[in-house]
Amino acid sequence: MSAQAPTHPALSKVLLDEATIKARIQELGVQITRDYAGRRLMIVGVLKGSVIFLADLLRALGPELDVEVDFVAVSSYAGKASTGSVRTLLDLRESPDGKDILVIEDIVDTGLTLTSLTETLLSRKPRSLEVCALLDKPDCRKTPLQPKYVGFKIPNEFVVGFGLDYDERYRQLPCVGVLRT
Ligand code: IMP
Repeated sequence: MSAQAPTHPALSKVLLDEATIKARIQELGVQITRDYAGRRLMIVGVLKGSVIFLADLLRALGPELDVEVDFVAVSSYAGKASTGSVRTLLDLRESPDGKDILVIEDIVDTGLTLTSLTETLLSRKPRSLEVCALLDKPDCRKTPLQPKYVGFKIPNEFVVGFGLDYDERYRQLPCVGVLRT
């Protein structure tokens, strides 16, 4: 992973450019298609940060895969810091009962958000539950949670772009970059 010149004045550097991200998403799509062949996959996107990643990942899945999409929204962050308490703002519309759930998240930082969310989803008796995150900051983890599918491991820096925000801004940037402080 090599740092590149910023493409937006709010970024101090680009960690992952668009081509690198898209190539890795294609690989994840192939792997997930293979792993879930013959099963009933329920993709659960965590709003809002996962939407860009989810849209690309969905199109990277094989057409033969039996897949449905649903969304949840949880709130745990204010600005750049995790508040530690996770609230459900939007719940699933479809029942996860008996389905193979794959939770799609933009980034795993402390792991508190996903630990809380996966515990809630597991109580509803899916057939299986795994996590796919575009980004992983393993140095920040406060729970044992480890996503099965990870796009990129990144250092402990606050990043924006490709769906990730800082106070709702910069989600539209096509790369992942470090926010200038
Ligand atoms: P966790 O509970 O600390 O793992 O935080 C997960 C959530 O925090 C993610 O879904 C993001 O919404 C947000 N988050 C964590 N790190 C970053 C970051 O570097 N940039 C933007 N959002 C982040």
